[in-house]
Amino acid sequence: MILVTGGCGFIGANFLNWATREFPHEKFVNLDVLTYAANRMSVREAEERGNCDFRQIDLANEEQVRETIRELKPQKVFHFAAETHVDRSIRDPRIFVHSNILGTFHLLEACREVWGNHWEGKVFHHVSTDEVYGSLGDTGAFVETTAYDPSSPYSATKAASDHLVNAYCHTYGFPAKITNCSNNYGPYQFPEKLIPLMILNCLAGKSLPVYGEGTNVRDWLFVWDHCDAIWKVAHHGKNGETYNIGGASEKRNIDIVKGICTVVEELTGRKNLQDLITFVPDRPGHDWRYAIDFSKVEREIGWLPSTTFEQGLRKTVTWYLENSKWVESVQTGEYRNWIATHYQGEIKP
Ligand code: TYD
Repeated sequence: MILVTGGCGFIGANFLNWATREFPHEKFVNLDVLTYAANRMSVREAEERGNCDFRQIDLANEEQVRETIRELKPQKVFHFAAETHVDRSIRDPRIFVHSNILGTFHLLEACREVWGNHWEGKVFHHVSTDEVYGSLGDTGAFVETTAYDPSSPYSATKAASDHLVNAYCHTYGFPAKITNCSNNYGPYQFPEKLIPLMILNCLAGKSLPVYGEGTNVRDWLFVWDHCDAIWKVAHHGKNGETYNIGGASEKRNIDIVKGICTVVEELTGRKNLQDLITFVPDRPGHDWRYAIDFSKVEREIGWLPSTTFEQGLRKTVTWYLENSKWVESVQTGEYRNWIATHYQGEIKP
């Protein structure tokens, strides 16, 4: 049995929808607490296949986690569950500590107890971020040995969870692997993040709020390429090792936003969407640039991203155009409150 945590979130849902299709004889269980950014609709495809069960579990609740792991006795665990939005972590870090640090700790402990030092055939795959490495200047790229230097409360909690996983490998011989990825984009991403926010605002004719001058740089990884990398590392990577996963698509935020305007114009016939671009006050402590060297996973496992940014963006915009029901279902009161308080009138909720 394969356990997936956070399977109703963005990356977890894409992973489950893909893995249940690719591996129909495997049995999957999805543990998700269903916070604001998680949506059971995202995983309907996986659930309809019949090889994916769902449990509403809070990883921050140690007792619940222990009981669930004792009962399910998973062979493999893919740990996606995490609070991930940097801006929210700046406003209220507490939930990030609970979910990302304590949640990971409880899961590790429960697996350690149930697996009882019999690691044969067991896999614990911890999904993490390149933000643990901090910020880069105009050149260079993160490698797996780059010293951790997280800037935001979000990345600090992910760094802490990575350290716990590494410590379990080092101390107990725990069979874990870690992947640290660059910025993901694709279907089912909650529209608080740059790409889906801009797509939906283009469609609604609302302003496109670019922080600072829009010159910060991110590397963009199409989520299906990321899912493929995770599966490959989980099965062919070495225990106790970290693998960086990137999309080979470094872009400035302003170019991403302009690119979204162009694709939305092409696919919908709308015009002059760039006029909606509005420069808003910068994020406090905004990391300047992330870039990732993923030559280790390429060399040792043979994984490479297969989607160019242009292909991935077109697929993503098309997905948001075709899935208005899903979009409506995530634009709840909570979402509207976030937009109203965070953007202070720059976008109408
Ligand atoms: P985001 O999607 O929040 O991911 P991360 O902070 O983890 O990189 O943001 C991506 C980049 O886009 C980041 O440099 C901040 C910027 N950004 C904006 O300019 N405007 C926005 O409204 C958002 C949400 C992000």
